Amino acid sequence: MSDRLALASDFLEQCRQLIDRQLECSIQDGAASPRLDDAMRYSVLGGGKRIRPALCLAAAQALGSDQASALAPACALELIHAYSLVHDDLPAMDDDDLRRGRPTVHIAFDEATAILAGDALQTLAFSLLCEAPELSDGQRMAMIRTLARASGHQGMVGGQAIDLESVGQQRTIDQLETMHRHKTGALIEASVRLGALTANGVTEPQLVSLSRFARALGLAFQVQDDLLDIEGDTEVIGKRQGSDAAREKPTYPSLLGTSGAREHLSKLLSQAHQALNGFGEEADTLRAMADYVVERSH
Ligand code: IPE
Ligand code: IPE
Ligand code: MG
Ligand code: MG
Ligand code: MG
Repeated sequence: MSDRLALASDFLEQCRQLIDRQLECSIQDGAASPRLDDAMRYSVLGGGKRIRPALCLAAAQALGSDQASALAPACALELIHAYSLVHDDLPAMDDDDLRRGRPTVHIAFDEATAILAGDALQTLAFSLLCEAPELSDGQRMAMIRTLARASGHQGMVGGQAIDLESVGQQRTIDQLETMHRHKTGALIEASVRLGALTANGVTEPQLVSLSRFARALGLAFQVQDDLLDIEGDTEVIGKRQGSDAAREKPTYPSLLGTSGAREHLSKLLSQAHQALNGFGEEADTLRAMADYVVERSH
């Protein structure tokens, strides 16, 4: 394993411990429905690479801000991500029965509970941001605005809608890129931006460079996800291999072939690294995360 990949793996493990501890406290039994709370815990705490929280913490580190102020936004990002997965797996969407090596939430519980758990995870994300004591009112407002925009119809949900409308359709590379930028890229970009917003003195050029990094990485992330759907093993990826082809999803490999998609992936990785040229070693964790995203096996 290269030094960068080892750095990313160690950092992800640290983030997982930090985030899981915090998330467990955040989903303590509410008075309303223990079954709903169980479904929320099942979806959030049952594995997952924690890439979005790690990007948030790494961006905060790149700008010299402390880890404590990035903890609430990191958890909020993971909650939005977890909700998006619960809904993505539903029969009305991708109809998948396996996620993170376990039955999906609607299989382990039931469909209505999965819908409600997703709804509740989404609102919990915004509650966490509203209540974060380490952040100023201005930071909270900027983060809520950024996360809401990245999650909704102009971001992830909009991308999911394009994804569903694209089933069985021939798409151009530009249309595919638009879909990926929305359904996956928007939340990856928000992860880096929320981390950057923890730094009081963040400058506009720094934000522009970090966003450029995140946009390339967000696209790369979904290209690798599409490749793993073809080339990965169900046991390793923890999801059913071949799900995209079975549902006739347009993907980068379906359009460019696997080697074309790989070439595209390495161009995106170079773009991500170039965007960080103005940063020193304080951005090494972000650089390591970029390598991890394109080389990951699950
Ligand atoms: C999977 O995301 C969904 C996509 C946006 C492609 P991850 O690969 O980050 O999923 P977990 O959280 O590690 O399970
Ligand atoms: C999902 O994309 C993106 C989301 C917004 C959840 P996929 O449908 O490819 O994700 P997986 O492969 O099921 O994790
Ligand atoms: Mg999907
Ligand atoms: Mg899916
Ligand atoms: Mg996929």
